[in-house]
Amino acid sequence: MPERTPYIAANWKMHKTLAAAAGFVDALLPRIATTAADVVLCPPFLALAEVVERSRGAAVRVGAQNMHEEPAGAFTGEVSAEMLVEIEVDAVILGHSERRRLFGETDEALARKVPAALAAGLEPILCVGETEEAREAGQTEVVLERQLQADLAALDPAGIGRVVLAYEPIWAIGTGRTASPDQAQAAIAFLRHSLEGLGAPAQEVRILYGGSVTPGNAAELMAQPDVDGALVGGASLDPGDFAAIVQAA
Ligand code: PGA
Repeated sequence: MPERTPYIAANWKMHKTLAAAAGFVDALLPRIATTAADVVLCPPFLALAEVVERSRGAAVRVGAQNMHEEPAGAFTGEVSAEMLVEIEVDAVILGHSERRRLFGETDEALARKVPAALAAGLEPILCVGETEEAREAGQTEVVLERQLQADLAALDPAGIGRVVLAYEPIWAIGTGRTASPDQAQAAIAFLRHSLEGLGAPAQEVRILYGGSVTPGNAAELMAQPDVDGALVGGASLDPGDFAAIVQAA
Protein backbone atom coordinates (compact mmCIF):
# COMPACT_ATOMS: atom_id res chain seq x y z
CA MET A 1 0.00 0.00 0.00
CA PRO A 2 1.51 3.41 -0.91
CA GLU A 3 2.44 5.69 1.98
CA ARG A 4 0.21 8.73 1.84
CA THR A 5 1.83 11.96 3.06
CA PRO A 6 -0.36 13.52 5.77
CA TYR A 7 -2.18 16.64 4.59
CA ILE A 8 -3.37 19.43 6.87
CA ALA A 9 -5.35 22.33 5.44
CA ALA A 10 -6.51 25.50 7.21
CA ASN A 11 -9.85 26.89 6.06
CA TRP A 12 -9.98 30.41 7.46
CA LYS A 13 -13.40 31.09 5.91
CA MET A 14 -14.18 34.85 6.15
CA HIS A 15 -11.60 35.57 8.84
CA LYS A 16 -8.40 37.62 9.00
CA THR A 17 -7.44 40.95 7.49
CA LEU A 18 -4.15 41.26 5.62
CA ALA A 19 -2.37 42.29 8.79
CA ALA A 20 -3.82 39.37 10.74
CA ALA A 21 -2.94 36.92 7.95
CA ALA A 22 0.67 38.18 7.88
CA GLY A 23 0.96 37.89 11.65
CA PHE A 24 -0.40 34.35 11.54
CA VAL A 25 2.12 33.18 8.92
CA ASP A 26 5.03 34.72 10.84
CA ALA A 27 3.89 32.98 14.03
CA LEU A 28 3.18 29.64 12.35
CA LEU A 29 6.27 29.01 10.24
CA PRO A 30 8.84 28.57 13.02
CA ARG A 31 6.44 26.23 14.82
CA ILE A 32 6.10 23.81 11.90
CA ALA A 33 9.57 24.06 10.38
CA THR A 34 10.27 20.35 10.79
CA THR A 35 6.94 18.87 9.70
CA ALA A 36 6.84 16.27 6.98
CA ALA A 37 3.13 16.88 6.34
CA ASP A 38 1.69 18.82 3.42
CA VAL A 39 0.42 22.06 4.98
CA VAL A 40 -1.98 24.26 3.00
CA LEU A 41 -3.32 27.62 4.20
CA CYS A 42 -6.61 28.77 2.64
CA PRO A 43 -7.19 32.45 3.48
CA PRO A 44 -9.86 34.72 1.95
CA PHE A 45 -9.10 35.84 -1.63
CA LEU A 46 -7.69 39.22 -0.59
CA ALA A 47 -5.06 37.69 1.67
CA LEU A 48 -3.87 35.03 -0.80
CA ALA A 49 -1.02 37.04 -2.34
CA GLU A 50 0.19 38.16 1.08
CA VAL A 51 0.24 34.60 2.42
CA VAL A 52 2.04 33.39 -0.74
CA GLU A 53 4.74 36.07 -0.31
CA ARG A 54 5.06 35.58 3.42
CA SER A 55 5.48 31.81 3.20
CA ARG A 56 7.86 31.77 0.23
CA GLY A 57 10.61 29.22 0.80
CA ALA A 58 8.70 27.54 3.65
CA ALA A 59 7.03 24.15 3.49
CA VAL A 60 3.58 25.68 3.30
CA ARG A 61 1.36 25.97 0.26
CA VAL A 62 -1.58 28.28 -0.30
CA GLY A 63 -5.13 27.49 -1.38
CA ALA A 64 -8.25 29.48 -2.22
CA GLN A 65 -11.67 28.68 -0.77
CA ASN A 66 -13.58 28.77 -4.06
CA MET A 67 -13.26 29.58 -7.77
CA HIS A 68 -15.51 29.82 -10.81
CA GLU A 69 -15.61 27.00 -13.35
CA GLU A 70 -15.31 29.26 -16.42
CA PRO A 71 -11.93 30.70 -17.47
CA ALA A 72 -13.36 34.25 -17.83
CA GLY A 73 -16.63 36.01 -18.50
CA ALA A 74 -19.49 38.08 -17.16
CA PHE A 75 -19.58 36.55 -13.68
CA THR A 76 -19.65 39.48 -11.29
CA GLY A 77 -17.83 38.83 -8.04
CA GLU A 78 -16.15 35.62 -9.18
CA VAL A 79 -12.50 34.54 -9.51
CA SER A 80 -11.04 32.15 -12.11
CA ALA A 81 -8.47 29.39 -11.77
CA GLU A 82 -6.04 31.34 -13.98
CA MET A 83 -6.20 34.34 -11.63
CA LEU A 84 -5.32 32.10 -8.69
CA VAL A 85 -2.46 30.41 -10.51
CA GLU A 86 -1.05 33.77 -11.57
CA ILE A 87 -0.47 34.73 -7.92
CA GLU A 88 1.04 31.29 -7.21
CA VAL A 89 -1.90 29.79 -5.40
CA ASP A 90 -1.55 26.02 -5.45
CA ALA A 91 -4.84 24.53 -4.30
CA VAL A 92 -8.53 25.32 -4.01
CA ILE A 93 -11.26 24.12 -1.68
CA LEU A 94 -14.32 23.14 -3.73
CA GLY A 95 -17.78 22.06 -2.61
CA HIS A 96 -17.52 23.19 0.99
CA SER A 97 -20.91 22.68 2.63
CA GLU A 98 -21.15 26.41 3.40
CA ARG A 99 -20.82 27.17 -0.31
CA ARG A 100 -23.33 24.48 -1.19
CA ARG A 101 -25.84 25.55 1.47
CA LEU A 102 -25.43 29.34 1.67
CA PHE A 103 -24.34 30.17 -1.88
CA GLY A 104 -26.15 27.58 -3.96
CA GLU A 105 -23.12 25.71 -5.27
CA THR A 106 -24.42 22.67 -7.13
CA ASP A 107 -22.97 19.29 -8.01
CA GLU A 108 -23.31 20.33 -11.67
CA ALA A 109 -21.05 23.35 -11.07
CA LEU A 110 -18.61 21.18 -9.11
CA ALA A 111 -18.45 18.64 -11.92
CA ARG A 112 -17.00 21.50 -13.99
CA LYS A 113 -14.97 23.21 -11.26
CA VAL A 114 -12.92 20.14 -10.32
CA PRO A 115 -11.57 19.50 -13.85
CA ALA A 116 -11.12 23.26 -14.42
CA ALA A 117 -8.95 23.44 -11.30
CA LEU A 118 -6.85 20.46 -12.39
CA ALA A 119 -6.46 21.79 -15.92
CA ALA A 120 -5.14 25.07 -14.53
CA GLY A 121 -2.67 23.28 -12.27
CA LEU A 122 -4.56 23.73 -9.00
CA GLU A 123 -5.01 20.90 -6.51
CA PRO A 124 -8.73 20.59 -5.75
CA ILE A 125 -9.71 19.81 -2.16
CA LEU A 126 -13.22 18.49 -2.77
CA CYS A 127 -15.53 18.46 0.27
CA VAL A 128 -18.36 15.99 0.70
CA GLY A 129 -20.49 15.18 3.73
CA GLU A 130 -23.94 14.32 5.00
CA THR A 131 -26.45 16.30 7.03
CA GLU A 132 -27.46 15.13 10.48
CA GLU A 133 -30.84 14.18 9.04
CA ALA A 134 -29.24 11.97 6.41
CA ARG A 135 -27.03 10.28 9.02
CA GLU A 136 -29.98 9.58 11.29
CA ALA A 137 -31.91 8.14 8.36
CA GLY A 138 -29.01 5.77 7.62
CA GLN A 139 -28.32 7.60 4.34
CA THR A 140 -24.70 8.65 4.92
CA GLU A 141 -23.20 6.33 2.34
CA VAL A 142 -25.91 7.09 -0.22
CA VAL A 143 -25.22 10.83 0.10
CA LEU A 144 -21.43 10.43 -0.06
CA GLU A 145 -21.60 8.15 -3.08
CA ARG A 146 -23.97 10.52 -4.87
CA GLN A 147 -21.77 13.57 -4.24
CA LEU A 148 -18.61 11.75 -5.25
CA GLN A 149 -20.06 10.42 -8.48
CA ALA A 150 -21.63 13.75 -9.44
CA ASP A 151 -18.67 15.96 -8.57
CA LEU A 152 -16.05 13.70 -10.21
CA ALA A 153 -18.20 12.81 -13.22
CA ALA A 154 -16.04 14.59 -15.78
CA LEU A 155 -12.70 13.12 -14.65
CA ASP A 156 -10.93 10.00 -15.82
CA PRO A 157 -9.42 7.72 -13.14
CA ALA A 158 -6.00 9.41 -13.39
CA GLY A 159 -7.63 12.81 -12.86
CA ILE A 160 -9.48 11.52 -9.81
CA GLY A 161 -6.13 10.38 -8.46
CA ARG A 162 -4.99 14.02 -8.35
CA VAL A 163 -7.90 15.22 -6.20
CA VAL A 164 -7.71 15.59 -2.42
CA LEU A 165 -11.00 14.68 -0.76
CA ALA A 166 -12.34 16.00 2.53
CA TYR A 167 -15.05 14.16 4.43
CA GLU A 168 -16.90 16.87 6.34
CA PRO A 169 -20.10 15.77 8.06
CA ILE A 170 -22.21 18.93 8.13
CA TRP A 171 -23.35 18.29 11.70
CA ALA A 172 -19.74 18.41 12.88
CA ILE A 173 -18.71 21.68 11.22
CA GLY A 174 -18.30 24.53 13.67
CA THR A 175 -20.45 22.73 16.24
CA GLY A 176 -17.84 21.20 18.53
CA ARG A 177 -19.50 17.84 17.79
CA THR A 178 -16.53 16.11 16.18
CA ALA A 179 -17.20 12.80 14.47
CA SER A 180 -15.77 9.94 16.50
CA PRO A 181 -12.59 8.37 15.12
CA ASP A 182 -14.69 5.31 14.20
CA GLN A 183 -17.27 7.40 12.35
CA ALA A 184 -14.55 9.29 10.46
CA GLN A 185 -12.72 6.05 9.60
CA ALA A 186 -15.90 4.32 8.41
CA ALA A 187 -16.98 7.18 6.15
CA ILE A 188 -13.50 7.71 4.72
CA ALA A 189 -12.96 3.99 4.11
CA PHE A 190 -16.28 4.04 2.29
CA LEU A 191 -15.13 6.96 0.15
CA ARG A 192 -11.92 5.13 -0.69
CA HIS A 193 -13.91 2.06 -1.64
CA SER A 194 -16.13 4.25 -3.87
CA LEU A 195 -13.05 5.71 -5.55
CA GLU A 196 -11.95 2.16 -6.30
CA GLY A 197 -15.33 1.58 -7.89
CA LEU A 198 -14.62 4.54 -10.18
CA GLY A 199 -11.38 2.89 -11.25
CA ALA A 200 -9.25 5.55 -9.54
CA PRO A 201 -5.93 4.87 -7.75
CA ALA A 202 -7.82 4.99 -4.46
CA GLN A 203 -4.89 4.01 -2.26
CA GLU A 204 -3.00 7.11 -3.39
CA VAL A 205 -5.76 9.66 -2.80
CA ARG A 206 -5.47 11.72 0.36
CA ILE A 207 -8.80 11.81 2.19
CA LEU A 208 -9.07 14.31 5.06
CA TYR A 209 -11.52 14.58 7.91
CA GLY A 210 -13.04 17.98 8.70
CA GLY A 211 -15.48 19.10 11.38
CA SER A 212 -14.47 20.50 14.79
CA VAL A 213 -10.89 19.22 14.61
CA THR A 214 -8.87 20.56 17.58
CA PRO A 215 -5.40 19.99 19.03
CA GLY A 216 -7.13 17.66 21.51
CA ASN A 217 -8.74 15.28 19.01
CA ALA A 218 -6.53 15.56 15.90
CA ALA A 219 -4.06 12.78 16.73
CA GLU A 220 -6.75 10.20 17.44
CA LEU A 221 -8.65 11.04 14.25
CA MET A 222 -5.55 10.97 12.08
CA ALA A 223 -4.37 7.70 13.64
CA GLN A 224 -7.21 5.95 11.80
CA PRO A 225 -5.83 3.98 8.87
CA ASP A 226 -7.81 5.78 6.15
CA VAL A 227 -7.79 9.30 7.65
CA ASP A 228 -4.90 11.05 5.92
CA GLY A 229 -5.18 14.48 7.48
CA ALA A 230 -7.54 17.26 8.44
CA LEU A 231 -9.37 20.25 7.02
CA VAL A 232 -9.48 22.63 9.96
CA GLY A 233 -11.78 25.62 10.35
CA GLY A 234 -12.07 27.29 13.77
CA ALA A 235 -8.88 25.81 15.23
CA SER A 236 -6.87 26.96 12.20
CA LEU A 237 -7.28 30.61 13.16
CA ASP A 238 -4.77 30.40 15.99
CA PRO A 239 -1.17 29.64 14.97
CA GLY A 240 -0.45 27.69 18.16
CA ASP A 241 -3.54 25.49 17.80
CA PHE A 242 -2.98 24.94 14.09
CA ALA A 243 0.70 24.10 14.64
CA ALA A 244 -0.32 21.56 17.28
CA ILE A 245 -2.66 19.90 14.76
CA VAL A 246 0.12 19.83 12.16
CA GLN A 247 2.43 18.24 14.73
CA ALA A 248 -0.19 15.58 15.44
CA ALA A 249 -0.14 14.42 11.81
P1 PGA B 1 -14.52 23.63 11.83
O1 PGA B 1 -14.69 23.82 10.25
O2 PGA B 1 -13.15 23.03 12.04
O3 PGA B 1 -14.66 24.99 12.40
O4 PGA B 1 -15.61 22.69 12.27
C1 PGA B 1 -14.22 22.87 9.33
C2 PGA B 1 -14.58 23.29 7.93
O5 PGA B 1 -15.64 23.89 7.74
O6 PGA B 1 -13.81 23.04 6.97
